[in-house]
Amino acid sequence: MIRSRLFTKMVVTYFCIIMSTLTMLGVLLSFLLNNYLIYNKQMEMLVKSTDISNLVKVFLVEKRDPGELVALLNLADKKLGTEIWVIDRTGGVIAASADQKMHEGDLVEPSDITDLQQGKVSIRRGKSPVYNETVLWVIVPVQDNGGVIGGVIMYSPILGITQTMIKVRNLFIYSAVVSIMFSTVVVYFLSKYVTGPLQDMNRVAKQLACGNLTERVNIKQGDEIGDLGEAFNNMADQIEKQEKMRRDFVADVSHELRSPLTNVQGFIEAMIDGKDRTSEDRSRYLGILHKETLRLTRLVNDLLDLSRLESGILPIEKRPVDITEVIKNTITKLKPALQDKGVNVVEGGTDREIVVQANHDRVEQVMSNLLDNAVRYSPAGGNITVSVVEHLGMVEVTVVDEGEGIPAEELSLIWERFYKVDKARSRETGGTGLGLAIVRQIIESLGGEVKAASEVGRGTKIGFLLPVSQGDTFLP
Ligand SMILES: Nc1ncnc2c1ncn2[C@@H]1O[C@H](COP(=O)(O)OP(=O)(O)O)[C@@H](O)[C@H]1O
Ligand SMILES: [Mg+2]
Repeated sequence: MIRSRLFTKMVVTYFCIIMSTLTMLGVLLSFLLNNYLIYNKQMEMLVKSTDISNLVKVFLVEKRDPGELVALLNLADKKLGTEIWVIDRTGGVIAASADQKMHEGDLVEPSDITDLQQGKVSIRRGKSPVYNETVLWVIVPVQDNGGVIGGVIMYSPILGITQTMIKVRNLFIYSAVVSIMFSTVVVYFLSKYVTGPLQDMNRVAKQLACGNLTERVNIKQGDEIGDLGEAFNNMADQIEKQEKMRRDFVADVSHELRSPLTNVQGFIEAMIDGKDRTSEDRSRYLGILHKETLRLTRLVNDLLDLSRLESGILPIEKRPVDITEVIKNTITKLKPALQDKGVNVVEGGTDREIVVQANHDRVEQVMSNLLDNAVRYSPAGGNITVSVVEHLGMVEVTVVDEGEGIPAEELSLIWERFYKVDKARSRETGGTGLGLAIVRQIIESLGGEVKAASEVGRGTKIGFLLPVSQGDTFLP
């Protein structure tokens, strides 16, 4: 399941981030705090022991009874929570606050008095030789007339500091636990937020793969996940549309092929068993057969063109083409058909050269399809106007006829494959319904666009726009 995997990954990641951040912060903070606390304590001890050393000086100079000194030290000991000894120049203890390890007459460590003898203050920290724990001690010399006459040693365990540090550390651990619990909750909802849509997409993708093309995801998030869901649904729409087009196409092709084939089959059968038919009948049948096979050929050729254009197999290599020239040629080629039907073609704007980047044969194919339609759907004796206008870097070619027209609601559909406004009429005139689809495909791949306007009963105006080739000289 996606959720559990993603969830685990996210929890582990969050856990690692929180732990490493807190650890780093903890180590740094405890280091700084420890130093700060010790420094403070040392300064406090230094000030106090200096004060005491000033008092002690009087005792030492006047050589008073050490008993009084002990009373004084006891007082200071109680107030400060430290131990205080008074020593002479050589490190012999003169007086010590009560209940202590050192007594009158004991000698302190020689290392403690090296600085003292030079009149210097020393601040030390470490395992005490006297106590079995880490302590701070400060040794302040007692001076008289510039000479060292003794010293004050103040001892303080750093237990208090250590305890503070333990408290701080515990606080850190608690906050880490709380953060991890909190982030687990956050991650749970976050992963639900992310994996919910993912699972939905996963499910729908499987459905689509199975051919269930109507399935869609229901993601309503206003972020990238929502965008993804939307893109996914668009993709599904496209797939559905493509699939429908494919089905329709196959159905249309089969339908288009069936009627000429049925006709061919019918007439051939009639000829096979029609012993009593006259030779006129037979030649009439052959004429129909010929017409049907021509229609089949046209259909297959159109289909082939369209599918090659759509799949890009028939690449339209672009060269400078004089579009007015192509139009004139196409009209000339269609002259016999035009004369047969008695329609009259009027040309406008074809008297000067307009160069477009296109393919000569394809433009001719477009023109002959448009003209073919105009002739096909025009009444006998009607006028067809072909005009070419150049404006704003585009050339607009329009074919206007005085035919039956196309209903407004069907105007946009005529560019679809196999779309025929009047099916019976189109069949009768031999249309395939592919002509305009081919036109659109060609024009769009040349970077242009197709246009149509029509009024039922009055006529149709159909054409296209193509960008005019700029700067290129026309190569014949
Ligand atoms: N000039 C026109 N006048 C009226 N109807 C037209 C015209 N051109 C196209 N049509 C309509 O558009 C349909 C599609 O045209 P087209 O793709 O060329 O197919 P067809 O093979 O039927 O000519 C035609 O069947 C016809 O109904
Ligand atoms: Mg046509």
